[in-house]
Amino acid sequence: MSFIMDCLSVNEKGNLSMGGCDVKEVAETYGTPVYMMDEDDIRKNCRIYANAMKKYYGDRGLVLYASKAFSCKYIYKVAMEEGLGVDTVSGGEIYTALKAGFPAEKIYFHGNNKTEDEIELAIKNDIGCIVVDNCDEVDRIEEIAGRYGKTVKAMFRVSPGVDAHTHDFIKTGQIDSKFGEAIETGDAIKLIKYASIKKNINIAGLHCHIGSQIFELDPFCETAEIMIDFIDEIRKETGIVISELNLGGGFGIKYTEEDDPVDFDKFIEAVSKTVKAKTKEKGLPCPFILMEPGRSLVAPSGITVYKVGTVKRIKDIRNYVCVDGGMGDNPRFIMYGARHGALLVENPLGEKEETVTIAGKCCESGDVLVENIELPKAKKGDYLAVLTTGAYNYSMASNYNRIPRPPVVMLKNGKATVVVKRESYEDIIKNDLI
Ligand code: LLP
Repeated sequence: MSFIMDCLSVNEKGNLSMGGCDVKEVAETYGTPVYMMDEDDIRKNCRIYANAMKKYYGDRGLVLYASKAFSCKYIYKVAMEEGLGVDTVSGGEIYTALKAGFPAEKIYFHGNNKTEDEIELAIKNDIGCIVVDNCDEVDRIEEIAGRYGKTVKAMFRVSPGVDAHTHDFIKTGQIDSKFGEAIETGDAIKLIKYASIKKNINIAGLHCHIGSQIFELDPFCETAEIMIDFIDEIRKETGIVISELNLGGGFGIKYTEEDDPVDFDKFIEAVSKTVKAKTKEKGLPCPFILMEPGRSLVAPSGITVYKVGTVKRIKDIRNYVCVDGGMGDNPRFIMYGARHGALLVENPLGEKEETVTIAGKCCESGDVLVENIELPKAKKGDYLAVLTTGAYNYSMASNYNRIPRPPVVMLKNGKATVVVKRESYEDIIKNDLI
């Protein structure tokens, strides 16, 4: 029997095993809920992308880890060691990356409404590139960069108008979007022209991102074509030659058996063919290419382990298996109706005996982690693992209901290392002044 996640197996005790560690033992040692991540599996994913970039673009490409997926000091260290750059979207992410010792020149700063303070933080620290969203931001950057006597390397976020078939909340490539300016409406070229007369901004590249959890290659190839057409339009209208093209992230992964993702390197291969053919057709130099996966680098390497408390069987209606975490540590079901797999840690391959809904402990009916999943009979005290939680779980966690956030434990070669400690009740009140 195989698991949805490559990094899981069953050990000689019959328990779930990850990174050479007995998942039950790690849960006993660090308590529950607990996020566990397999470090070598993350590194393996980093290498798949980095090697594909090298194969298809030589030294003319860079993979950025979209750190909104999972941000803490340690993951920036891993990304750094694997030779990736990072995509950051806030002062907090930039600060964390810098504190982890991440090289500033490989940090890219995105966002549709960066504050003056965030822009200043980026400029002061010589962040590699700001991905500019709009004309207002051009003014803010020009002013702050001028004050520091610096020139900012900038990419411009544009919307290519491609419909990626994914959840509405995580779609970004269409005209009706708060991100960037659309090519189709003419706003994108206006943005470039507006920036071109600013003396502290160096127009280096274009950026786009069509959405997240996308399973098809075509939307990425279509996007690459549209972007190169736009690079051509910019050259013709302004004489500016765009030298970098960031085609975003969003590569889909397997959360359930029904998900059928494409191998990660195939995205890079397909896009590279399109970029090369299209630039040749237009007589343009092939730009330096960036891609910025988040989820696919970390989600398949993470699980969250909970302890089962109440099991409530409502005859002919639903069986609730309630665990000691919930929407505070994983809001993906309540936000997107997202689906995750789940296993009993001490009986991962056991016969499936009933259909259950795994619910959290928050005061909210929608506080569900997994709806209608078949599991062996679970009872109070069992450890239960929700799968594929390495992305957008810890990073989107909250203290709703004043529940402390779980720790993150990195597993590698049979050793467990806490990289983010569990919050305490003291942490919960530390900012309450009176
Ligand atoms: N680049 C940009 C500009 C993005 O906005 C995103 C994700 C990425 C890269 C990385 O996309 P990924 O490879 O991770 O799909 N919270 C949602 C996902 C939100 C994605 C936001 N932007 C979830 O839990 O599914």
